[in-house]
Amino acid sequence: MTTLVTVGTQWGDEGKGKVVHFLSQNADLIVRYQGGNNAGHTIIFEDKPFVLHLIPSGILFPKKKCLITNGVVIDPENLYKEAMLLKSKNLDVKGRLFISESAHVILPYHRYLDILREEGRIRIGTTRRGIGPAYADKVTRLGIRVVDYIEEEVFMDLLEKNLREKAPLLKKIIPIAKLRANILKDYRKYKNFIKPFVTNTSLVLDKALKENKNILFESAQGTLLDLDFGTYPFVTSSNPIAGGVCAGAGLGPTKINSVLGVVKAYTTRVGEGPFTAELRDKTGDYLREKGQEYGATTGRPRRCGWFDAVLLRHSIRLNGIDSLVLTKLDCLEGMEKLKICTAYKYKGKLLKDFPASRLVQQKCTPVYEELPGFTGSVKGAKKFSDLPVNAQRYVKRMEELMGAKINLISLGRKREEIIVLEKSKIWY
Ligand code: IMO
Ligand code: MG
Repeated sequence: MTTLVTVGTQWGDEGKGKVVHFLSQNADLIVRYQGGNNAGHTIIFEDKPFVLHLIPSGILFPKKKCLITNGVVIDPENLYKEAMLLKSKNLDVKGRLFISESAHVILPYHRYLDILREEGRIRIGTTRRGIGPAYADKVTRLGIRVVDYIEEEVFMDLLEKNLREKAPLLKKIIPIAKLRANILKDYRKYKNFIKPFVTNTSLVLDKALKENKNILFESAQGTLLDLDFGTYPFVTSSNPIAGGVCAGAGLGPTKINSVLGVVKAYTTRVGEGPFTAELRDKTGDYLREKGQEYGATTGRPRRCGWFDAVLLRHSIRLNGIDSLVLTKLDCLEGMEKLKICTAYKYKGKLLKDFPASRLVQQKCTPVYEELPGFTGSVKGAKKFSDLPVNAQRYVKRMEELMGAKINLISLGRKREEIIVLEKSKIWY
């Protein structure tokens, strides 16, 4: 048995979709354990970029089983649309998709509440998909689980309770009768669609573990967006860190074998909040251009920054990362100099660990180390020594500052554009 968790080590958008797609070929089960359709995982499928927001990207392999477990929040409408999109590409989810009965559903009122907040004073820069409000309902015990959603009588009762409770806020933007009608209009269509997929996914996992299957847990978002360890309050409402797998999928910590961190050669983030090594000069525009840095979910431009080793040390520790995959090295091609943030300075003091204080996160300044850049294309490289010498130096220095090894280097969006440095622990 091998269980592997892939996690984002930065603020999301590290290229997890491509990595999971690459690893999925040797996995039997691919599992989403947190988040919802706020994720945007871009995969090259039949030579075209294809974005999945909710269904695990392993679905693109016709024989793999995909699980959406209890820690995920599911928008039935979005799930339906994504499944239809897959169907239009001759990918049938029937018999291969398993949805947890204990996952909570996102309903239109969650999206309205998300937008109300975003347009009010508490702006996080969310994806406006209703993620935060749905998790809030789960925690305050007003949530509607998938198992409740598919039992019409239970659903109707819970819907009324929710509408009543939320009416004072919601009626500012939509009459409650209209909102109710909207929700009920397609309710049966979505309910009937979801029903055959609903099961106890923890049991499915347990069976797979007993049969020594290879299981890949696919995280959405990233460590700095983690509700507990990210740049709070500018975070998402779940735990993308590897520790989130146990509660989010229903298995014990002794069942996790390995954690693979996905790290981008520089840093980006969408949304609001502190960004310690942010680039505000032309170099940022250059990176944005080379990396096509627009959010796959929101279409917003991503803020770009230098590689931040402080963030990575924080991520490696929190996730127990034992191997790393480096992505988007190709986007640094042609830059004269490359900077790496090695520490922060705050009020004359040197900080080597990521601070929790909002004030310090906002006010600290990055301490940079400068390395020579590299020219020439890295794309066709098959092994490490094929890379330009300065690119090799940059990667080695990243490893030293992170205190962890890079096992894979991704050099483009296509699945085969990858250098395998070390074959231990991970399956290829
Ligand atoms: P993937 O899986 C990048 C960010 C939002 C916002 C914050 C909270 O593609 O890496 P939310 O809608 O989750 O309540 O928004 O989190 N965010 C992401 N940023 N990639 C993602 O997912 C993200 N999912 C959420 O921009 O700052
Ligand atoms: Mg994204």
